[in-house]
Amino acid sequence: MIKKIYAAITAVGGYVPEDKLTNFDLEKMVDTNDEWIRTRTGISERRILKGDGLATSDMVVPAVKQLCEKRGIHPEEIDCMIVGTVTPDMVFPATANIACDKLGAKNAWGFDVSAACSGFLYSLTLGASLIESGRYKKVVVVGADKMSAIVDYSDRTTCIIFGDGAGAVLLEPNNEGYGVLDSILRSDGSGSPFLHMKAGGSLKPASVETVMAKEHYAYQEGQTVFKFAVKGMADVSAELLERNNLTGDDIAWLVPHQANLRIIDATANRMGLPKEKVMINIEKYGNTTAATIPLCLWEWKHEINKGDNLVLAAFGGGFTWGATLVKWAY
Ligand code: UT7
Repeated sequence: MIKKIYAAITAVGGYVPEDKLTNFDLEKMVDTNDEWIRTRTGISERRILKGDGLATSDMVVPAVKQLCEKRGIHPEEIDCMIVGTVTPDMVFPATANIACDKLGAKNAWGFDVSAACSGFLYSLTLGASLIESGRYKKVVVVGADKMSAIVDYSDRTTCIIFGDGAGAVLLEPNNEGYGVLDSILRSDGSGSPFLHMKAGGSLKPASVETVMAKEHYAYQEGQTVFKFAVKGMADVSAELLERNNLTGDDIAWLVPHQANLRIIDATANRMGLPKEKVMINIEKYGNTTAATIPLCLWEWKHEINKGDNLVLAAFGGGFTWGATLVKWAY
């Protein structure tokens, strides 16, 4: 009998820039204060990629290098790389393409996925499908964003949440039932007005006017996004448990997108999970968009055991949202 091929996560890599932007630094830039930011979001500091000529691919490269070293493989062995990002190095070519060149991943093809904060989950589901098809043996899935490139540091409601970073996982075939078991992904384009970048696309190409009007920054109506995020992330996570006949007791870890501690708490409560089972690093890194979930896996990898059930959950611009069930393979 032919056994089903699962896409197992076999290595994790991560990268955060050294430079920190603390709440106290932000107090000097906009009318805000440490206490407001911490109580409303759970964030104390974020990392910022500084330096001329440095872009998202420069965070992807060290994350993937680390992953290759851990697994003992050369980048030439990578078949495909998928990068979830809304801050690509440039509109085209894809950041995956640029990163593969910098890495020497000469045999890989690759592409970017634009799904904002759900970018990693969308990419993971795609990558898993490539493995499950039997055609590919080593697929690298990355979530990476240099949010500091599109944040307006005079907009106090938005600039306080975002940071920069990259996280990556390697997917390989597994015949023993370890890996990506199920995924529910959703999108609703009517949410676009509440979180988007107004200019720089084909609708409003860059011009002096768009730059003057600050239309190349991320625009967010925080409260509206917050309401949809709480419901979206919690609903889809509960649905994923239900359709797999699982309860909170069966889940070792919730790995939530780190947008706001209050959204994370609401999702954990809905799933009946205590705080000890929830990966939270928003305090140190803020919201790194597509990078939050793989950065959690990177930081917690020594505490995850073979056979653990993980629920990865996200909500973001688009709107896009989803939840993925993973059985840890090592
Ligand atoms: O990652 C993908 C998707 N994104 C999210 O999931 C983010 C979801 N949204 C949020 O996390 C929150 O909406 C924010 C953190 C962005 C904002 O928090 P909020 O609790 O929704 O604040 P608000 O915009 O409703 O503002 C409440 C008050 C306002 O003052 P008044 O009108 O009540 O006097 C704001 O002007 O807080 C004020 N305020 C601030 N005060 C100090 C807004 N930003 C700040 C600030 N410092 N940085």
